[in-house]
Amino acid sequence: MNSLHNIIKIEQTGSTNEDLSRMASEGCETGTVLVADMQTQGKGRRGRTWYSPKGTSLSFSLLLRPEMNPEKASMITLLMAMAVYDALQPILPEVKIKWPNDIVVSGKKVCGILTQMRMQSCMPNADVKAGAYGIKDVIVGCGINVNQDFIPEELKELATSLYLETGCEQNRDGILTEVIKAFDAYFESFLQTGDLAFCKVAYNNRLINKDAAVKVLDPKGEYEGTALGIDESGNLLVEDNNKELRTVYAGEVSVRGVYGYV
Ligand code: BTN
Repeated sequence: MNSLHNIIKIEQTGSTNEDLSRMASEGCETGTVLVADMQTQGKGRRGRTWYSPKGTSLSFSLLLRPEMNPEKASMITLLMAMAVYDALQPILPEVKIKWPNDIVVSGKKVCGILTQMRMQSCMPNADVKAGAYGIKDVIVGCGINVNQDFIPEELKELATSLYLETGCEQNRDGILTEVIKAFDAYFESFLQTGDLAFCKVAYNNRLINKDAAVKVLDPKGEYEGTALGIDESGNLLVEDNNKELRTVYAGEVSVRGVYGYV
């Protein structure tokens, strides 16, 4: 499939993110991709469950061990969103990215990404506050609704699949190959440059929130405004309704459309 990656396929598991994290602790190779035909306890963002039915969904996790400032790790998720977009856009030209990392079509989600980072001390008696901790590993988990012909009632308003949108079955292995190939190219540029400046314009062109009215669900206080696009670090710039420019940091808050999910 892709010679740079050790791709491991399994029939069923709870969560590929959980399994790969365990495998990483046991020393498995950087770049390993774990793909499951079905997950029984797929993990979503914010503690949600991710629905990964047998034989139709694409659920995989990728193990990375980047040597970089941990503060940069959230950008990796945006790179995976770019890669998934590249793989899905030829199948479904209307796909868009919903900041930071959902892939949406018809106002509904077709892919979600969950990135989990673990830290390790760089020196004995390290002090987290003094920044003496580095990245141990990063697991990028990706769930794509590919051939589902049915979405559970409670998710119908929020989720769709490539099959439901196009009426055609798609090859899950082919999509995985395309995603990984695209991700590798983005990740290499990111490692060379250290930020997202190289793909900021492309990301913003793909962004469903660009110039749209958004509601920022900040735990310190919700507000509404207009999303202007991302900066080089992947943060969303929002002009609030008082014309003040605000920076929304990925991972800390959710952004919704004013009238719904997008
Ligand atoms: C989201 O909430 O949008 C993120 C969903 C991420 C789901 C994927 S499926 C493969 C990997 N394993 C998991 O348990 N979760 C991620």
